[in-house]
Amino acid sequence: MTIRTTITGAGAYVPPALVTNEHLSALVDTSDEWIVTRTGISTRRIAAAPEKCSDLAEKAARAAIENSGVAPEDIGLLIVATISADTRTPSTACWIQPRLGLKNAAAFDISAACSGFVYALDIAHKYISAGAAKHALIVGADKMSDIIDWADRNTCVIFGDGAGAVVLSARPAADGGARGVISSMLGSDGAQAALIRMEAPAPGAGHSIAIADDGSYSTAPGRADVLKMDGNKVFISAVRGMSDAATRAIEAAGLTLADIAAVIPHQANTRIIYSIADKLGIPHDKVCVNINRVGNTTAASIPLAMVDALAEGKIKDGDFVLLVAFGAGFTWGATVLRWGKKPA
Ligand code: ACO
Repeated sequence: MTIRTTITGAGAYVPPALVTNEHLSALVDTSDEWIVTRTGISTRRIAAAPEKCSDLAEKAARAAIENSGVAPEDIGLLIVATISADTRTPSTACWIQPRLGLKNAAAFDISAACSGFVYALDIAHKYISAGAAKHALIVGADKMSDIIDWADRNTCVIFGDGAGAVVLSARPAADGGARGVISSMLGSDGAQAALIRMEAPAPGAGHSIAIADDGSYSTAPGRADVLKMDGNKVFISAVRGMSDAATRAIEAAGLTLADIAAVIPHQANTRIIYSIADKLGIPHDKVCVNINRVGNTTAASIPLAMVDALAEGKIKDGDFVLLVAFGAGFTWGATVLRWGKKPA
């Protein structure tokens, strides 16, 4: 009997505090015009100090579990993809496991930056396909504001905080009308690791941000290490890497680009997203984009865009959907699935 890994629930969470491009123009030498033109971002959400990465992850996970109707004790695997965990150990997954009542799950984090969600999906899909779990919960969560230098205009305008999660369930292919994951591929090139990295900030830089209860914020120096990025080189590699990954996953699924009804790309930058669409010949209206509202949320980006696309009616039962990501490492990956939350 063929088992399909189907998405049976999805949930998302972004913190309430909204930081606009005008707010950032008061912090660093930038402008709304530069940020919108170069990245497509107008606003991003930033978590206040007490809200940690695990809190973002828990809220999205809780919403996904409720949406799935799966009992928490029936979930056998919990993976959190993040690069901004509360603590180096234990993992974010272990912090949230008891809060969610996942008493029968193996729980761990993975670090694959912006590709983290498709990495977690691939691992959970293979785990479910092997019969090792009937249900899995995967979460992409990042509190990027904790690792960004708020004095560095090259990075602070790009990222936002948030989390997204899905419940994956094993379904006999016949039962689900062949809904679920059809193909999934991952890749990485550690030779490019230095292009997006954590490092000590320049003297006088390394600012953290603090959001007050009334939504006002302040920044202060003192951060030990911060995210640094060679944006130009990343841009070129991201277009090439995501285009190749998408093509390979679609071919492995036995489909053509014309079969794909919706593309959910990592929300890196609208220029990257539409360059890939144009390179592959995908009409822009098939591409799900929410980076304008939430920024680049790293591991959370694909599930956050998925939840928004579902709410906007862009993904319907039976649609072939492509997820594609590229991030630090370099890492990349793509998944083709046939949408269908419940058996047809
Ligand atoms: N405001 C105003 N000017 C700026 C800003 C800013 N916020 N940031 C940089 N500039 C300046 C630069 O200093 C440069 O000035 P110069 O010409 O005097 O030296 C000029 O703008 C052009 O800079 P570029 O880096 O060439 O700008 P580019 O068009 O490449 O856009 C960006 C930069 C947005 C970072 C782009 O390269 C990009 O999106 N890269 C990919 C980012 C990404 O996807 N990362 C992967 C995910 S991250 C992860 O995995 C954790």
